[in-house]
Amino acid sequence: MANNSEDIQMKIYKCGDEAAKLLPVSFDEWEKRAKELLAAAPFGYVYGAAGAGHTHQANVDAFQKYRLRPRICCDISKCDISTTIFGSKLPAPFLLAPIGVNTILHHDGEIAPAKAAAKSGIPYILSNVSSIPLEKVAEAMEDSVRWFQLYPPKNHDLTKSFLQRAEAAGYSAIVVTVDSTLLGWRETDLRNAYLPFLTGQGMGNYFTDPIFCSMLDKSPEKDLKKAVLTALEEGNNTCFTWKEFDFIREHTKLPVLIKGITHPDDAILALEHGVDGIIVSNHGGRQLDGAMATLDSLPLISEVIKGKIPILLDSGVRRGADVIKAIALGASAVLIGRPYAYALAVAGESGVKEVINNLIAETELQLAISGRSSIPDIDQSLVCKMR
Ligand SMILES: Cc1cc2nc3c(=O)[nH]c(=O)nc-3n(C[C@H](O)[C@H](O)[C@H](O)COP(=O)(O)O)c2cc1C
Repeated sequence: MANNSEDIQMKIYKCGDEAAKLLPVSFDEWEKRAKELLAAAPFGYVYGAAGAGHTHQANVDAFQKYRLRPRICCDISKCDISTTIFGSKLPAPFLLAPIGVNTILHHDGEIAPAKAAAKSGIPYILSNVSSIPLEKVAEAMEDSVRWFQLYPPKNHDLTKSFLQRAEAAGYSAIVVTVDSTLLGWRETDLRNAYLPFLTGQGMGNYFTDPIFCSMLDKSPEKDLKKAVLTALEEGNNTCFTWKEFDFIREHTKLPVLIKGITHPDDAILALEHGVDGIIVSNHGGRQLDGAMATLDSLPLISEVIKGKIPILLDSGVRRGADVIKAIALGASAVLIGRPYAYALAVAGESGVKEVINNLIAETELQLAISGRSSIPDIDQSLVCKMR
């Protein structure tokens, strides 16, 4: 990991090397390469968004409404972008977002981003709908920081089982995703008639769960369709309310974050219900088309949370400037989603590692060139909202 600006300069000076040209650099290039390499349906599953894609676009555009306002003549010779969340020191203020069903992108599935994250010291949030069971992913990460994301099941015993398994396997926080108790209207997937779960992918945690298997008449090997539909039915938890959230809160000792909040009133309720962290997210525009961009929601949420618990943000984060803008507007850290999914498709673990390393380097450079030398130096005065 580069931890001072001179190391990053060396990386830039070396950019004439042949080896440096093998992997893409920008988000657009990774996306383009992934599109060339993947079949239309899995590419569309990552690229696609809900409805007309307006929220997906709004997420990205929102970052352009803010501009950085640098200070000059500051000592930026030592720049430190590390930060601490729930007692873990992160080398940079970002984590890998939960992205399910990774075997549609690369044969190593979630093992590849998990290992890339572990080697970089960046926390990995494993999706509930991973193709690889959570215990195997934990084993691949050894002692590195990992969180487990839960799509809260209807069945309380299954909920408890997932929580206990995650705790036993060394996951150090639970992320409860609350914006997806129904799957959004995704036209790309409808056009491609594609839902990868139907082939048993993304079922790693369900099919290895004793409680889940006890809910089936026949094993998943004998009746795949019934097993998949039972799992999807558990996730379509339209009765999920704060009472259900309280059940999760009561059944784990780990910090619990709630992912999918964009309304300040929900942020207040989350605090009242003992949440340890909020992830401002609209699922990358994949759920409610027409919803506001997450960056636009962030200042309102930051205002009501008043620093009591960490606020994280995702949806639209593509570059170092985006990371800094989100922090200036109240986030403690951000989650990276599609950028690493495309890199996984293009080059597996080394692709994800490249994206992580480049984002660390770009964030550090951006911070230094804006005249700041650490994350606590970032405040609202670093950004201006354009008209
Ligand atoms: C292909 C794909 C799969 C996803 N799977 C999950 C998931 O299993 N659980 C979850 O909470 N969020 C999931 N998300 C949402 C991400 O965690 C994150 O909120 C989103 O990718 C952020 O938007 P961005 O990638 O455009 O920045 C998924 C997103 C994509 C693109």
